Amino acid sequence: MKSRLIREKFIQFFTERSHHHQPAAPIVNKDDPSLLFVNAGMNPFKDIILGNQPSTHPRVVTVQPCLRVSGKHNDLEEVGVDTYHHTLFEMLGNWSFGDYFKQEAIQWSWELLTEVYKLPKDRIYVTIFAGDKQDGLEKDLEAAQIWSQYLPENRILPFAKKDNFWEMGAHGPCGPCSEIHIDIRSEVERNAIPAANLVNQDHPHVIEIWNLVFMQYNRLASGKLIDLPNKHIDTGMGFERLAMVLQGKQSNYDTDIFVPLIARIEQISGKQYCQNESIAIAMRVIVDHVRAVVFAIADGQAPSNTKAGYVMRRILRRAVRYGYSYLDMQQPFIYQLVSVLVEQMEGVYANLTLQQDYIEQVIQAEETAFLKTLAAGLHLLNQLDKNKINQGMIDGRVAFELYDTHGFPLDLTALIAKEKGLVVDEIGFQQALQEQKSRSQKDAFATYSDWHIVKPGLHSHFIGYDQYHVTTTIVQWRSVSDKNGMRYQFVLEKTPFYPEGGGQVADAGYMVSGNETIVVLDVQKEHGLIIHTVAQLPTELERAVEAYIDIEKRTLTANNHTATHLLQAALKQILGEHVYQKGSLVTPALLRFDFSYPTKLSPEQIKAVETIVNEKIRENIACVAQHNIPLGAAKAMGAQALFGEKYGEKVRVVGFEGFSIELCGGTHVQSTGQIGLFKMLSDVSIGTGTRRIEAITATATEAFVDRQLSVLGAITTLLTNSKDPVKAVETLIHEKKQLQKQLALYHEKEIKYITDQLQSKLEELNDVCCLIQEVQVPHAEALRQIAFHYKPQHEQMLVVLAAKLATKAHIALLLSDRLQKRLGKNAHDVIKCIAPYIDGNGGGQAFFATARGDKLEGIPIALQAVRTLLEVLGK
Ligand code: ALA
Repeated sequence: MKSRLIREKFIQFFTERSHHHQPAAPIVNKDDPSLLFVNAGMNPFKDIILGNQPSTHPRVVTVQPCLRVSGKHNDLEEVGVDTYHHTLFEMLGNWSFGDYFKQEAIQWSWELLTEVYKLPKDRIYVTIFAGDKQDGLEKDLEAAQIWSQYLPENRILPFAKKDNFWEMGAHGPCGPCSEIHIDIRSEVERNAIPAANLVNQDHPHVIEIWNLVFMQYNRLASGKLIDLPNKHIDTGMGFERLAMVLQGKQSNYDTDIFVPLIARIEQISGKQYCQNESIAIAMRVIVDHVRAVVFAIADGQAPSNTKAGYVMRRILRRAVRYGYSYLDMQQPFIYQLVSVLVEQMEGVYANLTLQQDYIEQVIQAEETAFLKTLAAGLHLLNQLDKNKINQGMIDGRVAFELYDTHGFPLDLTALIAKEKGLVVDEIGFQQALQEQKSRSQKDAFATYSDWHIVKPGLHSHFIGYDQYHVTTTIVQWRSVSDKNGMRYQFVLEKTPFYPEGGGQVADAGYMVSGNETIVVLDVQKEHGLIIHTVAQLPTELERAVEAYIDIEKRTLTANNHTATHLLQAALKQILGEHVYQKGSLVTPALLRFDFSYPTKLSPEQIKAVETIVNEKIRENIACVAQHNIPLGAAKAMGAQALFGEKYGEKVRVVGFEGFSIELCGGTHVQSTGQIGLFKMLSDVSIGTGTRRIEAITATATEAFVDRQLSVLGAITTLLTNSKDPVKAVETLIHEKKQLQKQLALYHEKEIKYITDQLQSKLEELNDVCCLIQEVQVPHAEALRQIAFHYKPQHEQMLVVLAAKLATKAHIALLLSDRLQKRLGKNAHDVIKCIAPYIDGNGGGQAFFATARGDKLEGIPIALQAVRTLLEVLGK
């Protein structure tokens, strides 16, 4: 069965059982500080499972790409070495939100596997939760009993918490689970060892394919379990593993999901997958990693130096490195796999297809940059200082520096070291790594107390589109401590505060409770809750509070948000429809818009964009915001969506009649006239294929224009031809160039004269022809010219010239080769010795060196020191 069909059958099976097919969420998490990437199909439903948001559908089916590369669920080290773990994999899942529970979940999983996918029943083994004393949980007899309708008891195996209690992270939703495993070994192997002994033993051919989680608890920060408001079903089946089983293969990489990618690498590299184990591992790593990177870029997360972007960068670099070391790929090549993947996912993940060119550009640029780093790292290793190698061992800190600053993986350092007959101090490396980790953990992580519920059963509700002030009440609060100390967070039943999101900064403002006024420091969205951060809580938590936002900040921000929409529409008009938003920042001070476009905008394009935006502002178009529009209908209206943004089924559409329409939750002006003058400040590249425009509006533009005019005014006053300041400046520049030329001529003559004069100052000291003089020259370069003039005069020649130029003392020193030998020192050594006399530093080459310092009166002493050197030489 082709993988495409496997996916379709899964969806079909559950939609036939009244499940709503929900499209996949972006894999980069935006509103969960505890998790960078979606690592399980249930993440996008965390708010529903926790009871923060009601569910629109009691039953849901999804195919969700997941990334397990950091945090609790991290499979990175296994990838490629084995044949069934991946960084990115698709998870097939069905959900019940407070609807059906164990009976249906188990029954349907059995039916789907054995009747639709027709897996042999006698090869299936299931596990159930054995209970846990510490958590006070009983063995899951209910699941065992349900399974016994389908399987003999010796194939229903109890396992402890580690295997059969699923938790999303250190805290959050969790519950006992029941896993379905399958035995795909050969008959001989099956006869030799019973599969029941191999379940959960990391055997590549007795593997878990599906996990049914019976979500019923929330693990608190304290470790305690509390009941969730409802019981839910959360299941996850590994799509790639299922394909392996259904296609009769023994490795995920032999399925139609990976074969075309591997074939392409074979073609590019000229190597065969089966050639040897390291080549096979390298190819597996690369085809796995490219999928992760492509999906992340398509969802708006290009490789970068921070957070999720950094994880992606590391993954891509890992792939490049495997190609470099084992496939001899010293040129970028991974980007060439993108088209293969795009073709495979055609019709399933449209955002890959739409952004193919962009994704290729980004990957190719990353590869190119990292290959250079690799070359630089190799060079660095070749040049390694002797004292960083102790008894054939490279210092662990050196290896760590290579890894940390140059992205040079430890195993590569070890490999190169081995070629040189050296080893790397891996313990030292691990220590350095650990130290850095604990440093960054301290910086990055906040610890939260559990929520304290003040008003049970209430949700948070944003009313700030039309209201700037509201009387409301605190629903729940918690404390948070991080490097800034201890603060508090709370949820209001109704709030006018816009939480940071969609590029727009959070509202500022304050709350009044009785006679206390509390400043709101930050507002964020998390799992459907709007969370306000404050330094102190009101004394009486139950009493009503007045919440006020800072209207000026909101207004200025709205100007910039609307201007961002106008800018996007104008860019599409001028540059073409293929301009995609890649990010934005909307603050009261400015707006920043990142978009996919390969080249710098020309001044004409910039002008054209500005003109359109300003025209639309003057047209004073009213903002029409429509709430609760079905996503499909919104898209049909032509509303722009953003790749990588998680949209609900009902969306808000913000339109400016006839010009711009976008899906947007942000706050906007009532009509565009309020924006005033729009002005673009810059257009820069922020990575391959991506540009960033910064622009200002309203009062910021007024201030900008004022500043520009006052600078121009000041310049005009200084100029004689004040009617045409440009002409006047051009004339000044021209005159300056002429004068510089003339001056250079005078200097040349002057230097020649001084050089001639110095002929008479040559002296002989112990068979050395020397010129030791303080001189007056127009610039420091003249010292070199004069010294070089005298160089050929004698085999044993020494020239030391010093000059005072402005407030600095300058010394130039020239030593002929013969004299260097006789002295046992070169010019660089000598200048280092005398530079301190002028309070300065010096250096240079063997025959010529210079020094510069602040102590003018040190010059005679320095010159005398050189003279003494020659005098001593004779004795
Ligand atoms: N949430 C469960 C898992 O990821 C299904 O395994």
